[in-house]
Amino acid sequence: MSPSVALQLSFETLGWDEQGLWFLDQTKLPQEQTLFRPQGLPDLIDAIQRMVVRGAPALGCAAAYGLVYACTLVIDHQDMRLSLETTKELAEALRRSRPTAVNLGVGLDHVLRAAQDMSAESWQQPQSVIAALQAAAEGFHQDDRNRCQALGEQGFALLQDGQRILTHCNAGALATGGIGTALAPIHLAASRGMALEVYADETRPLRQGARLTAWEMVQSGIPVHVLPDSAAGSLLASGQIDVVFVGSDRIAANGDVANKIGTYPLAVLAARHQVPFYVLAPATTVDATCAEGNLIPIEQRSATELLGADGANGALAHHPAFDVTPADLVTGIVLEDAVYQPGSKSWAQKVARLRA
Ligand code: MRU
Repeated sequence: MSPSVALQLSFETLGWDEQGLWFLDQTKLPQEQTLFRPQGLPDLIDAIQRMVVRGAPALGCAAAYGLVYACTLVIDHQDMRLSLETTKELAEALRRSRPTAVNLGVGLDHVLRAAQDMSAESWQQPQSVIAALQAAAEGFHQDDRNRCQALGEQGFALLQDGQRILTHCNAGALATGGIGTALAPIHLAASRGMALEVYADETRPLRQGARLTAWEMVQSGIPVHVLPDSAAGSLLASGQIDVVFVGSDRIAANGDVANKIGTYPLAVLAARHQVPFYVLAPATTVDATCAEGNLIPIEQRSATELLGADGANGALAHHPAFDVTPADLVTGIVLEDAVYQPGSKSWAQKVARLRA
């Protein structure tokens, strides 16, 4: 995909430098801006599960680079030999780290395809394999940047000066390899002098809205109000919100949308108050092989994360990381090339093209 004039923000979420793979450690934000560098494959998987790096498109890039990183560990290990089989096994270990974000597997498969294209002789020179896999991962990251820019332009066309936008979780630059999904149009609008205000759900229990969206908006000088998740209803009822923009971890073929837990009630509230509800995502988030939302695997997080180390006198936890918003509550799905109405002919045709 070719970008329009690409917007650069003041920070990046992940990358690869002379010391190797790095992530901006999102568990430390907003207090500290520190880089995380994995110390082995278990450490990398643990970082993905702890959400040092998170957000579906960023997980795709992290997994693509992560597979290259895991392959470099193999060639540094004198008792092991890098092969296509080993590369596939490493990819499967990474694939299991977080189940809902479909982009994670898309990133792995992109690098695996480059591995499959290597000749038998190339595997005798593992450094040449690493160079090819590295180029594939970098290509995937650049593609994600371009996709964010393009869908950001589509979302920008929906906005008007002075609007107030409600969002959930963090679907910004911190969640992608580029300028974000739901927040991409807002970054573009701000860079073009449009005055907008963002209302960010706190997003319990890990507070991606209060910690990450708020930080990201402040970095870009965009006015942001953080609200408790439970205040979204009265805020929408008060008429102070013009539009809801959210991201997604996986969009089913029928237009059902998995996103951070709490998105579904927000969609119900938006419908009740006749506020448009848009889902913004790259086409890599559309799982054309998944017929409907109830087939999307939903990650269950630990009881400790919700209840704390001491628990709550033996209480059990119900702690899904995502929920599914039915397609009929979605005003539009904003992809790189157009805004689609779930259930429309153009959406069905788009899904068919993605499946092909
Ligand atoms: O659990 P997280 O923080 O990885 O969940 C992230 C989200 O739900 C985002 O809204 C989604 O991945 C879209 S990111 C552009």
